[in-house]
Amino acid sequence: METERTLVLIKPDGVQRGLIGKIISRFEDKGLKIVAMKMLHLTKENAEEHYAQHKGKPFFDSLINYITSAPIVAMVVEGKNAVACIRKVVGATNPQEAEPGTIRFDFAMDIGRNIIHASDSPDTAEREIKLFFDESEIFDYKRIDEEWVYE
Ligand code: RTP
Ligand code: MG
Repeated sequence: METERTLVLIKPDGVQRGLIGKIISRFEDKGLKIVAMKMLHLTKENAEEHYAQHKGKPFFDSLINYITSAPIVAMVVEGKNAVACIRKVVGATNPQEAEPGTIRFDFAMDIGRNIIHASDSPDTAEREIKLFFDESEIFDYKRIDEEWVYE
């Protein structure tokens, strides 16, 4: 089994709209494991580092304002092919183009208010997890249903 870890952020709109529990449930119900979690309010500097790949793009300033506008919830999620798997659970960047059943289709309307972030590759995940968590904040444990989730 290719076990991976990825970074998920519930963005300010997800927190403000009271969707933390519903979003986490999507991952738990699928069989993915939450191995780290915290609430924090990103500074402009933190946000610019996290979204460094988008610096200079037309939406960069509004993206930084959005992600720093209120607290967020950061998580490390683990599972088989977790990076690609979670991108599928999350759905397309623009909620108008996301498939029904994805988080972005089911809970959002606008690309600038798309409620959740998930790392886009294993390399990105490794970089992003380090921005948010110390190794000591990431837990190694077995879920009681693991033998019923994985063959
Ligand atoms: P994220 O990084 O937040 O998980 O989103 P993503 O990979 O699906 O999309 P990405 O291309 O990395 O864009 C990062 C975030 O910037 C905002 N965005 N706005 N107005 C626009 O054209 C536009 N494009 C991107 C979105 O909030 C997107 O999630
Ligand atoms: Mg991205």
